[in-house]
This record gives sequence, structure tokens and C-alpha cells, in this order.
Amino acid sequence: MASREQFSSKTGFIMAAAGSAIGLGNIWGFPTQTASNGGAAFVLVYFILAFCLAYPALMAELIIGRHARANVFTALRGIATGPFTRFLGGFVGGYGVLVASLILSFYAIVAGWMLAYLGEAIARLLGMDQLAGWLISFGFERNMLLMGLFMMLTMAIIAKGIEGGIEKWSTRLMPMLLIILIALIGYVLTQSGAQEGLRVYLLPDLSQVRPVLILDAMGQAFFSLSLGVGTMLVYGSYLDEKESLPKLGAAVTLVDAGIAFIAGLLIIPAIYVAKEHGATIFNDSGELIAGPDLIFQVLPALFNSMGEVGVLVALAFFVLMSIASLTSSISMLEVPVSFATEETKASRKQATLIIGLLIFCVSSLILSYFEQLFSLVIDLTTVYSQPLLGLLLCVFVGWIWHRDNLLQELSKGHPTISETWFWKIWPSYVKIFCPILILATFVQGVIG
Ligand code: TRP
Repeated sequence: MASREQFSSKTGFIMAAAGSAIGLGNIWGFPTQTASNGGAAFVLVYFILAFCLAYPALMAELIIGRHARANVFTALRGIATGPFTRFLGGFVGGYGVLVASLILSFYAIVAGWMLAYLGEAIARLLGMDQLAGWLISFGFERNMLLMGLFMMLTMAIIAKGIEGGIEKWSTRLMPMLLIILIALIGYVLTQSGAQEGLRVYLLPDLSQVRPVLILDAMGQAFFSLSLGVGTMLVYGSYLDEKESLPKLGAAVTLVDAGIAFIAGLLIIPAIYVAKEHGATIFNDSGELIAGPDLIFQVLPALFNSMGEVGVLVALAFFVLMSIASLTSSISMLEVPVSFATEETKASRKQATLIIGLLIFCVSSLILSYFEQLFSLVIDLTTVYSQPLLGLLLCVFVGWIWHRDNLLQELSKGHPTISETWFWKIWPSYVKIFCPILILATFVQGVIG
């Protein structure tokens, strides 16, 4: 067997994993969830859950991945201790591969919209108004074309492999994302209305804290850290043995939560600037518009009202959204592609092509029956499957795998790990606390 590819450096891994984590979930999901869940109260709960629940679960994935040096399916079967756990491992791994692929099938549609609005800004700069108008019409052809284009970009990067594809592009794109984000915040905060947005974002409004807030925050944290489906597991499997997993995992969690927080400083003030410009920002029941209308109506209305600079601001904003989407979508596609290359004789290029086409077909189906399928697929994958899979992964690490193996794996990049607080707390934490907390939140959310 040819030697397995891996990330060339620690930075390469951090860029790739942060690129996976930082996506539409951070820039769109987090700020709007915060705004509709009582502002700072949600931020606080989110940060606590990110570090106390998502971080330990992320560690479980990274450790399994680096130990097994394989995709989620092969890895979970590999650490099994008998026929039953082997079956369970195959089931959880297979379910993860399926969910990752389904997440990509709706994510590519949404990312296609980002490309469409990016194209619109360019078309308007070039004076091609008809094309611009078509690009922002919600037509089937437009949706298909841009979803297909986005899938092609994702496939082109994944076909190039780990170092030449995922790492190279994450390292190029993530700094750009940060620069654009900061530039946009700088601009928006000088506009009138921004102060009110900052207040809504940063001052807790306890009257809006609902019981489902914790479930929302947990779902958001799992989605944002790309957990449960084997994305982080497979990225961990490309990590060198000399690296310390707890430190890298903490860095990724911190960067992810930090960017989500910073994105809120852009989105929420921008909404209130739009209000100053006369846009409707609340729906009929008095809630802040947070869904697709926010990104595709409220903000574009704002950009339009800004005059000349508006097109450039729109361009920067949709470049930002497209970059965030792409570094995330590649991490989704890597899950089924690594599975296919390691479980069959297919080459990376073949696997990418076939799986990419299959996912394209699923996306087309979702677009054809949009009303029936779009939200359904999102709920089935992110609301139900992801926490459940996260729970099962914790069970694997906590109950099926031996503590000695864990210690051995962790010691590789961190010889003194057994003396750290991490080792004193984490193993029993993933074994007992995480599964109970995930289950409790889940049950409460589903019943309530
Ligand atoms: N974390 C990304 C975001 O915030 C999305 C993402 C990438 C993802 N890979 C994933 C979500 C795997 C779930 C599973 O947008």
C-alpha cells in the first residue's frame, strides 16, 4: 500500500480543520441564532457548550482518527473489541458517511446561492444587468447551475488530495476570509444604526431565553465544529504523531468560536443598519428575520441602498460566504471519498468523481422537490443525526476503547499527558458526562 498522505505541518492541519469548522454555520447561523435567542445569553451558553461538550467530542474524533489512520468506517471497525462492537462500528461509521454526504447535498445548494450573489455583484460591476437579474432569481436552472458549479469546485480540490488540495486551499483561503471579515466589520460599524445592533448582540435579554435555547446552542456547536460524521476524525487521521492532540483541538475550538463571535459583530449590526435604511427586519410575529431572507433580501437591500460602494461591499460579503462554504464543503466530501478509497480499489480521482456525481444527483432531487425535501434533509442530518452520532462516538471512546490505548495515543505527541488536567478529566468526561448531556438535551428538545 502506498504511504498514507498527511498534512505537512501543524499550521496546515489547523487551517484545514478551522476551514472545515468555519462555514455558513459561523457567519450566518451563529449570529442569527444569537439575535433570536436573547443576545449575549445565547453567546454565553454557546461558549460553555462549545468547550464543555463539543471540545471533548472533537477530541474523541481526533484521537480515534489519528490512532486508526483511516476513514470513520474503517477506523471504528478497527478499534472494536468483538463481533458486536465491530458491527456497531461499521454501522456508526456507515451512518456517518451517509450523513456527511447528505449534509453536503444541501450545503452545496446554499453555497450555490452564495456564488450566485457573488456573480451578481460582478455582473453589475460589468454593467451586465440582465445576467445580474437572472443570477438572483430563485429559478430552478439557476439553482442547478450554481450548485453544480460549487460541487465542481469542491471536487476539484478533493481530487488533489490532502496536502495539494485540502491543505493548500485552506491555507490560501482562510487568511483571506479573516481579512475580508475584519474589513467588512470596520465598514459596517461606521454606519448609522450599527450601535443598536451591537446592543442587541451584546446585551443579554433574559426575557427571550427559551428552554430550547440549550438544544439550539448544542446543535449549533456540533454543526459548527463539524462533529459526529467523521470529518474531524478523518482530518485527525492525516495528522502527524508528534503533534499534541489536546492542544490542536483546543486551538480549533477557540478559533471556531472566536470567528463565530466576530461574525456576529458584522451580521447583527448590518441588520440594524439595514433597518435605518428602511428595510423590514422583523417578520409578522415580531421576530428578527434570520433565514434565507436575511442573506438574500435584507442584506442585499442594504448593499443596494449604499450606492456605488454597495456593489463592492456586496462583492466582499459574498466572496466571504463562498470561501467559508468551500473550505467546509471539502471537509464533507472528504468523508465519503476517504471511505471509498480505503474500502475499495478506487483511486482518489475516481472516488471523487463518482461520489461527487452521486451527491450532485441528490442535490438535484432536493432542488426538484424543494418544498418537501430541503428542510427535511437539514433537520434529519443536523438536528437529529449529528448529536446522536456524536453521542455514539463518545461511547466508542469511553466504553469500547481501552483507557490504556487512549493514553498511549495521546502520549505520542504529548509525553507528559498523564500528568495534565486534561487526562485527569477528559476520559471519564467523554465516558459519562458527554453522553448524558447530549442525550438529555436531545430528549428535552425533541419532547419539548
Ligand atoms: N462546520 C461547518 C459550518 O459551520 C459545516 C461543516 C463542515 C459540517 N463539515 C461538516 C457540518 C461536517 C456537519 C458535519 O458551516
